[in-house]
Amino acid sequence: MTSVATLRAPEPAGTRRPTPRRYLMCRPDHFDVYYAINPWMDTSAPVDRALARAQWENLRATYERHGHLVDVVEGVAALPDMVFAANGGLVIGERALSARFANPERAAEGPAYHDWLVAQRFTQVLAARETNEGEGDFAIAGDRILAGTGFRSSRAAHEEVQEFFELPVISLELIDPRFYHLDTALMVLDDTIAYYPAAFSGESARLLAGMYPDALLATEDDANVLGLNGVCDGYHVFMSERATGLAAQLRARGYEPVGIDLSELLKAGGSVKCCTMEQHSVRMGALPSTD
Ligand code: ARG
Repeated sequence: MTSVATLRAPEPAGTRRPTPRRYLMCRPDHFDVYYAINPWMDTSAPVDRALARAQWENLRATYERHGHLVDVVEGVAALPDMVFAANGGLVIGERALSARFANPERAAEGPAYHDWLVAQRFTQVLAARETNEGEGDFAIAGDRILAGTGFRSSRAAHEEVQEFFELPVISLELIDPRFYHLDTALMVLDDTIAYYPAAFSGESARLLAGMYPDALLATEDDANVLGLNGVCDGYHVFMSERATGLAAQLRARGYEPVGIDLSELLKAGGSVKCCTMEQHSVRMGALPSTD
């Protein structure tokens, strides 16, 4: 895999083109693992916060080098998982829905992200009424939203999201505790998705196979390093450098994988996508006007 240091936003050789994105991240100033709310978290394993910060700064710099805008929300002491900005909410166009966390350990992150969203340019900002872990469980895929449930966000949250954003929501059931958020098991690409079928109930896996017959199917090895927890800008796929099989599959489809090392954040069960909330712009025709 190409080393991150040498990447200079190469010109795509094929037909895929990156489009500039706007992300929200939270510096891991308070990152730690002193509670365990998913199987990745081992409270007896030491965390190197300085290394976590350096890895995070590299991700941020990599986005910026590839032409993307990164907003940063201030972390809050005693909220060690706040670095996982994807969970803070869901933003599409002028509308923003802030999260309501499933676990009490993360509950105070909801209001912290809400306050940040309120201070921005959005015309409608709502705090979720139902248990909703933001982009961790909700993936914008063109004019629809794929939504995970089973461990964190509730089915009632799927309905709330459908009503608030006026976009169809497809509910998918996660069944493997290692893949507790949708974004650990499924990644939206430019015109299709990549996912790990065994993370889903039989019914949900069949639904995905029917909707995306050309999807990339990740191996267990790639899923196990959270290779699917990546961010695609239409051409580049920012993702764990450890998911080498998935990177090869992506290259064969005309994408450019950009390998990222977030080994310290992985100790809390997170990777690239977890650290990144995309502030999605509205595609023409995707959302009806609010006035
Ligand atoms: N320790 C965090 C949790 O269990 C990790 C969250 C990762 N975020 C994500 N979008 N998958 O909630």
